[in-house]
Amino acid sequence: MTNQTTLPFHQQCIEPDCRAIYDLNEPIYVCRACGGLLDIERTQLSDLQASEWQTLWRDRMTSRDLRDRSGVWRFREVLPFVSDVDPISMNEGNTPLYNAPRSAAYCQIDSLQLKHQGLNPTGSFKDTGMTVAVTQARVLGARLVACASTGNTAASLAAYAARANLACAIMVPTGQVSLAKLAQSLDYGAKVLEIEGNFDSCMREIRELSEDGSLYLVNSINPFRIEGQKTVAFELAEQLGWQMPDHLVVPGGNLGNSSAFGKGFRELLALGLIERMPRVTVIQAVGAAPFATYYQKHRATSAEFLDEPNPKTLASAIKIGAPVSWKKALRAVAETGGVVLTVTEQEIADAKAIIGRDGIGCEPASATTVAGIKKMKAEGTIQPNETVVAVLTGHLLKDTDYVNKYHNNSLASDQTKILSTYGNMPIKVSGGRDELRRVIEGLQKE
Ligand code: F0G
Repeated sequence: MTNQTTLPFHQQCIEPDCRAIYDLNEPIYVCRACGGLLDIERTQLSDLQASEWQTLWRDRMTSRDLRDRSGVWRFREVLPFVSDVDPISMNEGNTPLYNAPRSAAYCQIDSLQLKHQGLNPTGSFKDTGMTVAVTQARVLGARLVACASTGNTAASLAAYAARANLACAIMVPTGQVSLAKLAQSLDYGAKVLEIEGNFDSCMREIRELSEDGSLYLVNSINPFRIEGQKTVAFELAEQLGWQMPDHLVVPGGNLGNSSAFGKGFRELLALGLIERMPRVTVIQAVGAAPFATYYQKHRATSAEFLDEPNPKTLASAIKIGAPVSWKKALRAVAETGGVVLTVTEQEIADAKAIIGRDGIGCEPASATTVAGIKKMKAEGTIQPNETVVAVLTGHLLKDTDYVNKYHNNSLASDQTKILSTYGNMPIKVSGGRDELRRVIEGLQKE
């Protein structure tokens, strides 16, 4: 597989006073000149009209071509590959946009839509980026792909590496990753390296190890990941008839996802496919909120970004204190007029239970969105009649330990008990048929 360098794409440093340019196929993750993050940019925009793009992509929905079956590769003209690329794909994307009336009522807004990225092949949004990053690993002839992870990136990489027949190593903090996520990585055959410390220490280690080129790093610092994830903005726009909502709300951890939405909306606007961008808002757990702290206290003064050395949250997916992509996420928030805020462990747990009651469900990190929307409505940042889309990033079954504890009234964060406000405890019925009948009759009256 080749990815000719004559493609109209290159890698470019995002730092305004650097903007160094690199070949598309240089396996680098940050700018060699200044250490800045890299974007993949197009050198020439297409000459198709917006309506021609829309027709092209829509017509592919009935095609049997594997690339058209993927919600990522269906939009392949905006991806940095040759047109007949043979992707490592598992029909990722194509995720539903659900109406969530109970969640909307909980937030006291008229309606709320949930884009469920947990319904990807490995149960999280990571698959939309991983298909592209692992395809690029094959283009580059990489022998070993690797990542640091709080669990979902690892599970996703493990699956795509298996499909690509590539050796795969994942680095996770011992005892801090949900067992369901770990089980996925083991089953897909990845080598799981458990180290003492937290996600941020894993990230530091793996970045240093990648410097000599012995492994291909596919965390979201790799701009190919962001390219894949940006297509979710395209899919969402298409689902909404190319009319953007007022707000798009995402959880924030390492901040790749918010960066990708920002890039997707920017490109949609540049191609004339949408008339305005939604406000991109990022929600963090209060104990793991370096980005929210920076945004609220220091952004105006351009002070240094301070990592959180000891991040804490039961939403283990976003237990991150040194987010790699904060500058790209800041750009997305600033450019679209969004905000960054925090929610408490109690707020996350309750919002998660409400999303469950909509029959949808998600993992704890994803529920920061609904908790955040409720808070934004209460503070007046969201008006009741505005259109809001929240991105659910992971499947309910990713962390059943959390769910069972919440409903059994035994969830606690750092010695503090989380109230089981919307708990749904199993009912122990020990008195035989008569008691069972009484219980069932009681349920009919509810
Ligand atoms: N939600 C879930 C379910 C996640 O797994 C992650 C990140 C996020 C939200 C935050 O997204 O990092 O792009 O801001 N999980 C990574 C992992 C860190 O290793 O699986 P982000």
